[in-house]
Amino acid sequence: MIPRIAVFASGSGSNFQAILDAIASGRLQASVCALIASKQGIGAIQKAEANHIPVFINDADRALESTHPDLLVLAGYLKPIPSHIIDRFPDQILNIHPALLPKFGGKGMYGRHVHEAVIAAGESESGCTVHVVTEHYDEGPILAQARVPVLKDDTIDTLATRVLAQEHHLFPLIIQQVLHGG
Ligand code: GRF
Repeated sequence: MIPRIAVFASGSGSNFQAILDAIASGRLQASVCALIASKQGIGAIQKAEANHIPVFINDADRALESTHPDLLVLAGYLKPIPSHIIDRFPDQILNIHPALLPKFGGKGMYGRHVHEAVIAAGESESGCTVHVVTEHYDEGPILAQARVPVLKDDTIDTLATRVLAQEHHLFPLIIQQVLHGG
């Protein structure tokens, strides 16, 4: 039985696309049964439509009841997951964060703000973190991290690009491990 993934997104969906690419290449044995978008007009919706994946706008409950996923994957999702969903999917909700948690996480730490804070703090390295989602934002058990150097002439954009490339590699890999072990 191929495991079913429900993807949650709020943005361009490049992590969502990386998951679709990993499925197409056989690196990830799964299917995406739903895309839950936090708003209309985001790139992730077009990617879902191009792959004939049902789209639910701000309606996670209907998506989950009608598509029966085995795993929920937050791929750049900016809204909190309601506790009744966290309770229904214990240890079955994964998130990717564009920094080395527990540093640079929590309220307001998303997208460009994360990389801006990393550069402002003078960090010599950054990266991304895949973690289990719990009711405490960005604080669930860490499953894996990928590290990148922070270069002295880095801008927010150059660092974001370097981190995002690692996200696209790490997330499908960890999803495969969570679903199939080893
Ligand atoms: C990524 O930086 C991810 O780490 C964060 O939100 C961004 C999503 O980008 N959670 P995309 O929509 O997957 O391109």
